[in-house]
Amino acid sequence: MSTERISVLHMPSIALGPGASLEAGHHLQALGVTRVFLVTDEFLQRSGLIAPIEAAVRADGLDVVVYAVPTGEPTENSMREAAEACVASGADGVLGVGGGSALDSAKVAALIATHGGTLRDWINAPLGGARVPPGPLMPVVAVPTTSGTGSEVTAVAVLDLPSDKVKTGIAHPFLRPNIALCDPELTLGLPAPITAASGIDALLHAVEAYTSIPYTQRPKPASAGARPNYQGAAPMADIWVSEAIALVGKHLRRAVADGSDIEAREGMMLAATAAGIGFGNAGVHIPHACSYPIAGLKHAWSPPGYPGEAKFVPHGLACAITAPAAFRLIEPAVPERSRRAAELLTGAPVDVDDHDAFARALAQLIADIGCPTTITEVGYSEADLPDLVAGAMLQQRLLACSPIPVGEAELERVFRESL
Ligand SMILES: NC(=O)c1ccc[n+]([C@@H]2O[C@H](COP(=O)([O-])OP(=O)(O)OC[C@H]3O[C@@H](n4cnc5c(N)ncnc54)[C@H](O)[C@@H]3O)[C@@H](O)[C@H]2O)c1
Repeated sequence: MSTERISVLHMPSIALGPGASLEAGHHLQALGVTRVFLVTDEFLQRSGLIAPIEAAVRADGLDVVVYAVPTGEPTENSMREAAEACVASGADGVLGVGGGSALDSAKVAALIATHGGTLRDWINAPLGGARVPPGPLMPVVAVPTTSGTGSEVTAVAVLDLPSDKVKTGIAHPFLRPNIALCDPELTLGLPAPITAASGIDALLHAVEAYTSIPYTQRPKPASAGARPNYQGAAPMADIWVSEAIALVGKHLRRAVADGSDIEAREGMMLAATAAGIGFGNAGVHIPHACSYPIAGLKHAWSPPGYPGEAKFVPHGLACAITAPAAFRLIEPAVPERSRRAAELLTGAPVDVDDHDAFARALAQLIADIGCPTTITEVGYSEADLPDLVAGAMLQQRLLACSPIPVGEAELERVFRESL
């Protein structure tokens, strides 16, 4: 088998700093947009966070139609309705302002408003038609209000399919926003539990990308267009994700302890975006593959600190619960990178004979910031293990990035150790 020799790095233009969100109108205009479909969520719309951004875009001379998705993570229905509203608005550009839920909804609205089709047409196979967009989307500017998902720089959108009891996504390079405006002041009011859940998501993006199978061990694609979106660990992605791990180590505990700490908020926003750039090219693996059945199979837990009554396991927590067990499994296979990740996270040297230093540092961080540490806490028991394993096995796109081969036995071990 001939193997890959070319590594790639795709990313949008980025502006980072207090007030960056108020420059959205300028960027939309430069992209030729005259009428903007502004996608946020209902909680953020009520919170008053959106009004100054909307006013600034209007002051720049653009028409704005505001659309708020239901608070909570996107479902097939909520994304379909957002796309229909975008088509009806007559907009020629989309501005997403919110956490990953609003940003992913914005990307999908732009996809369907540009190229038509039904939502299922575009969803990854086998649940959807995996249709390929024939060209770029109408311009999308993304303004994150959480520091976690990196959606502002990635080429995917994630949604829950309640009828299939599974989360899945739409992935194509054209889904990557044109511009990311990262304004840490927007996160000053983010409650501690959401800061923690989204912050741990950013860390896992970074460290899963860092420990992914090296791109040079993957098959050479038949053409540039056939290269997978997630190509494995590679030198340019490493630069972004290693810095992201160190930034999380310095800033996440601080941001959770004191939400008004602007230095910590700015550090976490840079960490999340840097991690998004890295994982958006390199990929993620076992904890993310396990998160999809944890989030999709049961809706039995009300996450403390999240607005509304919805029962669900927020994405960052769904990833974090199995992550220590997943890293205990892979660390012996990637000892140098695991050690380096532990050093970046803790700021302290790690002994060469220490083969679970990263898993320990991660478990400590997860406990320190108050996240659940077992699947039992969010409603699962031993009887659910077969379904959880089967759900994670469906995520072959992610498991292909694991540094070790992963089958049912490995996944069963990870879930069992997380009970
Ligand atoms: N596209 C990607 O690359 C990608 C990557 C990882 C995760 N995701 C997806 O993103 C979603 C999760 O996104 P998230 O973790 O950002 O959470 P979220 O967008 O669901 O927001 C969580 C809660 O925080 C509130 N909130 C957001 N910003 C706030 C602020 N500044 N102040 C106060 N409250 C605020 C929201 O109203 C919501 O109730 C999941 O669906 C997940 O699967 C996407």
